[in-house]
Amino acid sequence: MKIRQPSSRREFLKTTGGALGLFGMTTHVPSSNAGAAEGGPPPVKRDRAQLNRLLDQMDAKGYQFWSVPRKDGEFLHFMVKAIRARNVLELGTSHGFSAIWMGLALEETGGRLTTIEIDKERYDLARRHVSEAGLSHRITLIKGDAHMEVLKIEGPFDFVFFDADKEGQLDYFNKLYPKKLVPGGILLVHNAIRQASSMKDYLEMIRKHPDFDTVTLSVTMDDGFCLSYRHRV
Ligand SMILES: C[S@@+](CC[C@H](N)C(=O)[O-])C[C@H]1O[C@@H](n2cnc3c(N)ncnc32)[C@H](O)[C@@H]1O
Repeated sequence: MKIRQPSSRREFLKTTGGALGLFGMTTHVPSSNAGAAEGGPPPVKRDRAQLNRLLDQMDAKGYQFWSVPRKDGEFLHFMVKAIRARNVLELGTSHGFSAIWMGLALEETGGRLTTIEIDKERYDLARRHVSEAGLSHRITLIKGDAHMEVLKIEGPFDFVFFDADKEGQLDYFNKLYPKKLVPGGILLVHNAIRQASSMKDYLEMIRKHPDFDTVTLSVTMDDGFCLSYRHRV
């Protein structure tokens, strides 16, 4: 795993707010009850100012905890809502920043997120952050090695986010596909541009896989995502 260093591009984006971002959501904080949940536990009422403070604090520590940039968190939030995801899996929780963005979207879809982290301190911190965000009813945190834990979890999932060890993507894929990713499901891999060389085997495989449509995109002009859609037929 690589330590994330500020880059000039990152600094540029910080000051410009990401001129070429997919959408302008820099000050966006999801509303507490953005629509009725479709089944599952009901959404909780939360203090938006408090949530905003928590997200700001976590964002400020993003380098320390290798969490996704805020705009990528917003993109995850958008995707979970857009595909009406109900059963989401994340590999690599860190302090819970991306988990909270997805968890807030699941308040609308009525779904659940399972997220796996190997490091005990980060797992403990994520648990605290998830609770502070009022999302403990939506998010199940697992402490363990995701390479082992994915074999134990049941699935199937309709949205899977890989953000743990970059060299492990192919192994994760082989353990999850086909049984644990539904037809019509989305597989999203972070750092597919910035750390492409660490996941070359995975990227080569998924781009020519006959059961998937795959695109590479960047919201921040930096880290990049590899986004794959599993065909329904
Ligand atoms: C890039 S960070 C995740 C950031 C997080 N998704 C976010 O945006 O807030 C990667 C995390 O994966 C964890 N990790 C690395 N290898 C792992 C493994 N085999 N199983 C579970 N977690 C792992 C690291 O400890 C680290 O916290």
